[in-house]
Amino acid sequence: MNDDFFWLVNNRIIIPEVKSEHRFIHITDLHIHAWDELSTDEEKELAIKKENDWMSGKENFAKSSGEPFGESQKISSIEAFEKILLLAGELSPEAILLTGDNLDYMHPAGERYLKNRVEEYEKNGGRIICVPGNHESADLDGIWSSKLRAYDFKDFRIAAIDDSKKTVDEDTLIKLETLCNEGIPIIIICHIPLSTELCKSKLEYAGPYFYIDENTDDENGRKFISLIKNSKAIRAVICGHLHRYIKCELSDGKAQIIGSQGMAGAVDLITVCGE
Ligand SMILES: [Fe+2]
Repeated sequence: MNDDFFWLVNNRIIIPEVKSEHRFIHITDLHIHAWDELSTDEEKELAIKKENDWMSGKENFAKSSGEPFGESQKISSIEAFEKILLLAGELSPEAILLTGDNLDYMHPAGERYLKNRVEEYEKNGGRIICVPGNHESADLDGIWSSKLRAYDFKDFRIAAIDDSKKTVDEDTLIKLETLCNEGIPIIIICHIPLSTELCKSKLEYAGPYFYIDENTDDENGRKFISLIKNSKAIRAVICGHLHRYIKCELSDGKAQIIGSQGMAGAVDLITVCGE
């Protein structure tokens, strides 16, 4: 699609056990604001105000990251998502991965809009896998969940995890450990990036609000990162939250792909393949 709105970044995740190529689109931090005929005047006013605030907010993030931003990116969050759905219609990925701050805040019109669009996309044969961000509730029925969900693809799995509160719950740790013991390669999608010895120099600029440090005081956070670093089954992490694109390594050969802001056209094209 020839559209100045998009900033497409190619990413390859090599998993030797994977025999064919699998293509995904990764989008994060859409920060959708919506209103509709059911919205009250106050709800509409708030959505318009927040949308306007993000017009300069997303520009500031892009400029401080040296990422593309011009007139084409000055569109509403809904227009941005609609463009992304059109792009997905052209590229037909196996799934769209949405890694949080999908909605800017929990509001009925936003929830209705997202549910409708996800349902429609999936009715037409597509698939959307979604995790919550720190701007959202832990659960949105049928869209995202605070519970770990595993999706099987051929020769690998995607595990969708809620780390939006800079931690994970006991249940997630137990389920993730069980999945790891099954030995099938895993790609994790979550919202908040992880910081380890190997990648901290790339994340430090953002400050501790923006990542989970492997030495955090929170025990579950430490266990989560340790499991990711040490499990042979886990091969990569895909996340967002920074509003800046960074690709780094959590431990030797284990990539972390941090997507930039979808509301400003950032799209990660992810190819999972054997070589
Ligand atoms: Fe965000």
